Amino acid sequence: MIFGTRPEAIKMAPVYEVLKQKGTFDVKVLVTAQHREMLDTVLDIFSIKPDYDLSLMRGRQTLAYITKEALTGVVEVLEREKPDMVLVHGDTTTTLAGSLAAYYLKIALGHVEAGLRTGDMYNPFPEELNRRVADILSELCFAPTKRAAQNLLDEGIEETRIFITGNTVVDALLRISSIEFEFRGELERLSSWDGRIILVTFHRRESWGEPLVEICSALNLIHDSFKDILIVIPLHLNPEVRETAFSVLKGDRYLFTDPLSYVPFVHLMKRSYIVLTDSGGIQEEAPSLGVPVLVIREKTERPEALEAGVVKLVGRSRERIVREVSLLLENKEAYDRMRKAVNPYGDGRASERIATILEAYL
Ligand code: UD1
Ligand code: UDP
Repeated sequence: MIFGTRPEAIKMAPVYEVLKQKGTFDVKVLVTAQHREMLDTVLDIFSIKPDYDLSLMRGRQTLAYITKEALTGVVEVLEREKPDMVLVHGDTTTTLAGSLAAYYLKIALGHVEAGLRTGDMYNPFPEELNRRVADILSELCFAPTKRAAQNLLDEGIEETRIFITGNTVVDALLRISSIEFEFRGELERLSSWDGRIILVTFHRRESWGEPLVEICSALNLIHDSFKDILIVIPLHLNPEVRETAFSVLKGDRYLFTDPLSYVPFVHLMKRSYIVLTDSGGIQEEAPSLGVPVLVIREKTERPEALEAGVVKLVGRSRERIVREVSLLLENKEAYDRMRKAVNPYGDGRASERIATILEAYL
């Protein structure tokens, strides 16, 4: 299996564990390390020791750089290992390169989290392209939901290649959220904070620059209007994101941290009143925890939680974000309507299903 970033690692870890437990597979892990620190904390939590590590991350890396290095490096490893099957996940540049490498060497490909679409090649960018390529090239498309499977059918992908499995993120989340946890270290302030918490994350490429300035300006207005809230922002390590955040966000009820390891982050989501995010994975996790999510994006490839009413798409304009957050903070009825635990993305057994399908296929 091939992965390279934090979210791919979180969602592939349960698949790795089940495949190992089965004892019928010889599983090898290749990480591109498109992320470094953010990947390594996940590898530690799930005790995964990669067999190959391309160590490709560089500061301010370009899409072309990651694609070129990952493609060349993955091809070399696949030529040496000659696996029967390659598994990739999701929609990162590592996913794209891993899929192309398998295709060039005519090795069967399986795509975990197949079929997510917005229908817009630039929202999110470049993920919409990456996942389309992976799906076109995959012998086995593991779609998390019926909707994702339908997207694949609509594009002409044969039904025999599509399997609805649920999303493996729920497998990971259920396991981690049951661990006992106390807020310490950089999260110490939370242990004595009895007001409300808004958890915020952002990193998407299409929001760099002006849209991110709008988002941060909205947060400042919310910070200044509501004195009982603490805004917690685990900042992505991307310098593009950090520079904007640090230059615009001002106030003493902001708590900035580095990216949190998965265990504290899950417990922080549970403790939060509202989550404001452009993340894909968090849109899937927070509904399971019953925490309302406002998505600071123009489009989402995850309509299931929107339809369930626990997630709302609020765009990236300052005025709309302030309005939507204020509504949830001020109007208990509106808040309670969104605060329901639903699980449109899985039941915690997606990895088991994927392993069973792989056994039958191989
Ligand atoms: C990548 C994925 C995106 C995914 C996101 C998850 C692509 C094009 N983008 O975006 O789909 O949603 O990961 O977080 O595949 N950095 C570090 N340490 C780390 C990680 C990143 O310093 O552990 C910094 C580096 O300066 C790096 C930069 O962040 O150059 C950008 O990383 P990159 O993987 O290119 O893009 P992300 O925005 O993280
Ligand atoms: N996450 C984490 N620590 C953080 C922020 C996020 O462990 O400080 C987890 C989160 O629970 C989710 C995943 O990382 O499982 C989402 O990663 P990200 O938002 O970077 O990527 P995306 O899902 O948008 O591709």
